[in-house]
Amino acid sequence: MRWLVRIVVGLLITGIFAVGAGFWYVITRDAREPSMLAFRSDCASCHGEDLKGTDRGPNLLVQLTSGDSAEELIQSIARYHPELVAEAEYPEPMVKALALYISEQRQEIPSTADSHIHTIPEGVVESRHHNFTIELVTEVGKGPYSIAPLPDGRILLVEKVRGLSVIDTSGQQGELVEGTPRAWSEIAKVRGSFAVLGAMLDVELHPDYATNGWIYMSHSDRCQFDCGSPWPVTMVRVVRGRLDGNRWVDAEVIWSVDKDKYTVVPDTVASGRLAFDHEGYGYVTVGGKSTYDNLHVMDTPYGKIHRFRDDGAIPTDNPFWQAEHLRDPASSRNTVWSYGHRTAQGLTSDPRTGDIWATEMGPRGGDEINLIRRGGNYGWPLYTEGLDYNAEYISIGQDLGLDFAFSETIPPVVDFTPAPSLSNLSFHEGGKFPNWQNDLLVGSLRAQTLFRVRIEGGEVVEKEKLVTKLGRIRDVEMGSDGFVYVLIEHDETGSLLRLVPTS
Ligand code: HEC
Repeated sequence: MRWLVRIVVGLLITGIFAVGAGFWYVITRDAREPSMLAFRSDCASCHGEDLKGTDRGPNLLVQLTSGDSAEELIQSIARYHPELVAEAEYPEPMVKALALYISEQRQEIPSTADSHIHTIPEGVVESRHHNFTIELVTEVGKGPYSIAPLPDGRILLVEKVRGLSVIDTSGQQGELVEGTPRAWSEIAKVRGSFAVLGAMLDVELHPDYATNGWIYMSHSDRCQFDCGSPWPVTMVRVVRGRLDGNRWVDAEVIWSVDKDKYTVVPDTVASGRLAFDHEGYGYVTVGGKSTYDNLHVMDTPYGKIHRFRDDGAIPTDNPFWQAEHLRDPASSRNTVWSYGHRTAQGLTSDPRTGDIWATEMGPRGGDEINLIRRGGNYGWPLYTEGLDYNAEYISIGQDLGLDFAFSETIPPVVDFTPAPSLSNLSFHEGGKFPNWQNDLLVGSLRAQTLFRVRIEGGEVVEKEKLVTKLGRIRDVEMGSDGFVYVLIEHDETGSLLRLVPTS
């Protein structure tokens, strides 16, 4: 017995050290960021450590003579400073990393920790087509992730670490709804974000909710011991149920995967966003909750968007569907609709066509808005506009031996570099902001910005920042009253906001 105790104690100590080292690595990452260090040592003497310029070099935060897109900045650095770049002997993508560093500073994208500070602007916010005010509907509990406005004006709210509740028409948040799947509390808070194993994720109404009352929720289902794992493991699961007063009833599991696909990776990258198309098919995004090589293995659920019927039946026209006798019983390939996604933290359908659109969080740079196509390969981790956080090219795909041509992947309709950390998105519909009709309203976490994007014929024709410095936007939804509802998270609490036009 004694040797067993020694092994267990040994494992525990190793585990504690590994977790401690992991936290230390994440917490101190900003301070070790190579392009920032390179800028301070090679550029700050003329452009200033704060980029505001000195008598030897211009301010890089104001309008630049040679443009300020990442591409233009790369060209300027090469054009103005060829000797410097040659002398510094930068590893190849450092010039791009410097360009990203400058554009991040220009866009005032705060650090992840600072992005938890929020400010609700007072007075009128001016934008290109509409001016509006931002009203606080209510403060909410910690870790808010999603909302679903009900036709009667109440709003369903999901807090990752608490669960489902209902906000009434006077803005009062009710008690937690009883009987939903269990929400586990956070294990730790890293740079203001919760690390959770067993989080509540999205909430979405059935397209015919008014007649059938079905509410869909995604959550990260957790198990331990009962699924043969000594430590807790989780995986995205979709359930549906109805509200009877404050109770969750008629509960059914709609989409789930074999327990051997559950992983110990925290739910920050679980995604779990839900949407329905015009034919009533449901979709759920599953982040890369494993090693990245699995993103291109159809038998695993990770880094995919899955498609199912509203009652949980599997459509046999799904692109990788196989009959039972051909398929590994633990495979989740039959629901795969698209793959090669990194972390699709946003999903919505176009009210005009039912087309499914998703956001994608890139690494450093390379956030995307994608139109989701049947069987589509979205390229991660082999192709991305972004760089690694250590100012190097992303080589994960090559290292894993992934091999497919760029032409086989579906490029994003919108690229966001530098990356704002895009979250959920919604098409604007209803009459309250007529000049935004059918535009995408897109939230972001780190950049704290609400974007408006107009897409026509598959191309971006307008891209505007409606509000910045608002807070970490987790969800954007159209209310039944036609106003825009925005859910923001900030540390221990969150806020539900409403955009109301003034003109
Ligand atoms: C010795 C001083 C000096 C150093 C060091 C220096 N710069 Fe410059 N930089 C300048 C000057 C001066 C200009 C303006 C050149 C001009 O307008 O002809 C400039 C221009 C630029 C521009 C274009 C600005 C615009 O308006 O389009 C960028 C971008 C830039 N520098 C980035 C960098 C980066 C990145 C580094 C470090 C790798 C760096 N610079 C190092 C002096 C410096």
